[in-house]
Amino acid sequence: MFFLTPVLVAVVCILIAWIFKNADGRSMEGRKGETRARAQTRPWVDEDLKDSTDLQQVEEDDDDWQESEESVEHIPFSHTRYPEKEMIKRSQEFYELLNKRRSVRFISNEQIPMEVIDNVIKSAGTAPSGAHTEPWTFVIVKDLDVKHKIREIIEEEEEINYLKRMGRQWVTDLKKLRTNWIKEYLDTAPVLILIFKQVHGFAANGKRKVHYYNEISVSIACGILLAALQNAGLVTVTTTPLNCGPRLRVLLGRPANEKLLMLLPVGYPSQEATVPDLIRKPLDQIMVTV
Ligand SMILES: Cc1cc2nc3c(=O)[nH]c(=O)nc-3n(C[C@H](O)[C@H](O)[C@H](O)COP(=O)(O)O)c2cc1C
Repeated sequence: MFFLTPVLVAVVCILIAWIFKNADGRSMEGRKGETRARAQTRPWVDEDLKDSTDLQQVEEDDDDWQESEESVEHIPFSHTRYPEKEMIKRSQEFYELLNKRRSVRFISNEQIPMEVIDNVIKSAGTAPSGAHTEPWTFVIVKDLDVKHKIREIIEEEEEINYLKRMGRQWVTDLKKLRTNWIKEYLDTAPVLILIFKQVHGFAANGKRKVHYYNEISVSIACGILLAALQNAGLVTVTTTPLNCGPRLRVLLGRPANEKLLMLLPVGYPSQEATVPDLIRKPLDQIMVTV
């Protein structure tokens, strides 16, 4: 009887431990299920561009989010209407200007007027955004050392991208553009513009603010920025450095709610600049009228 008691105690202990473990597992599952359900009701939160430097992954909690309380006055809309002939002329001229835009990968080290940069960023900042959240940060890099550090990070990652991550099809598709992991323009371009999307914002009380459709909003701003640069007579190449976002964010001291979306080296084309002789699809291949 006496030698049975320790065995009985051990069995009871194992049973209690098993009950606790299962109860915890069930609540974890429940929490995961709730997060999944929340993700489904918040389709603007995209899953890509995850940033492994978010060391303090905050558990999603509805109480952390701030609802907008601002009220805004509504005012008469001011509109400029052009005669039809003028409209056609303006639209044709705008198309001709934008049709001359090319991705230029050879950029001279000649300095550019910084007032132009202010104006193109102001233009980008006129973009529409989900619930007028303006979820963008444009980081302007002029410092030679910082530009070089950016180049080192990007070339290091891009070499791995080209050799391992991108796959044969992607590398083959890029052959006609003659691109590789060497990015001299990151040193030579007088200005680098790094565009970050703010995946959420912060209210004055520190609570998080939802940034609806932040990636679409910032992409529209980038489109306007490209058009503004073209209008000013500067060149750039749209780049989305794969796997570099977290390191560049840390280098530039940006907070964890900002994720790198795009990097634009900006300047004048170098004397020997060439571009691939690409042909754009004609109207009847890109437009469908119903
Ligand atoms: C989302 C996006 C990402 C791009 N990423 C790169 C890139 O990483 N490196 C690069 O040299 N060009 C990049 N490009 C530029 C494209 O290769 C270029 O736009 C395309 O070849 C058409 O040429 P065009 O811009 O001269 O019309 C990118 C373009 C887009 C829209």
